[in-house]
Amino acid sequence: MSAHKTPTDSDPAAGRVSVTVTEKGPYLVYGRPPFCEQFIMPDPDNESWYFQEGRHFSTEAEPTALCRCGASQRKPYCDGAHVRADWDPQLTASRRPLLDGADKTEGATLTMTDNPQYCVFARFCHPFSGAWTLTELSSDPEARRLAVREASMCPSARLTAWDKASGTPYEFRFEPSLGLIEDPAVGASGGLWIRGGIPMRRENGEFFELRNRVVVCRCGQSANKPYCDGTHAAVKWRDGLQGDPVGETLPEEVY
Ligand code: FES
Repeated sequence: MSAHKTPTDSDPAAGRVSVTVTEKGPYLVYGRPPFCEQFIMPDPDNESWYFQEGRHFSTEAEPTALCRCGASQRKPYCDGAHVRADWDPQLTASRRPLLDGADKTEGATLTMTDNPQYCVFARFCHPFSGAWTLTELSSDPEARRLAVREASMCPSARLTAWDKASGTPYEFRFEPSLGLIEDPAVGASGGLWIRGGIPMRRENGEFFELRNRVVVCRCGQSANKPYCDGTHAAVKWRDGLQGDPVGETLPEEVY
């Protein structure tokens, strides 16, 4: 991982992969990105610590329609259930860039931005007294390393750590790819993780903010659609897909 660019000017995924959020139905995925389960795995204290890959799914259909309402019997794919499902498909998320509404925590060597509206309850910010305290203690190299790690593991970019001297953010370099978040510790399935600067647009052509880390709702119950707002954990939504985690997928680290 390295400090580079800003979370909002990530490279468009090779100009090839894209996601269209339909107004009343599925996500339409173009460009055949890699797509697999991503399990939130714990440290010895049972705190969220890393992601582990599960089964891979095809995105060969062009486009591939992925369930957004949570009711499909063919998840992760759409089977048309959104037409009859009891859900509100409205895309209500603010158009403001994520950083516009972000709080700042300051430490000696780091700043951490935090926009709680984008919390998906993945809890990578909890270990070792938490990302906020670690940022405040960032004059200590170990606290700094942990603060950067915890902020960067946040799948939705609610949290981002910035190097104070250079003003650059820390971001993992993700290949353009999709993940189905699974959270065995809370017994729930999470959102669709859209990684690596994949452009996302509405059917009318309007683009959402381009970011390296985005999580959109697939349970149908978020109040901040298309983004996930953590409701899946509160209601213990399950997609019924959970396979066995098969391989660690920590992205490239450079500590
Ligand atoms: S998947 Fe997180 S709120 Fe729907």
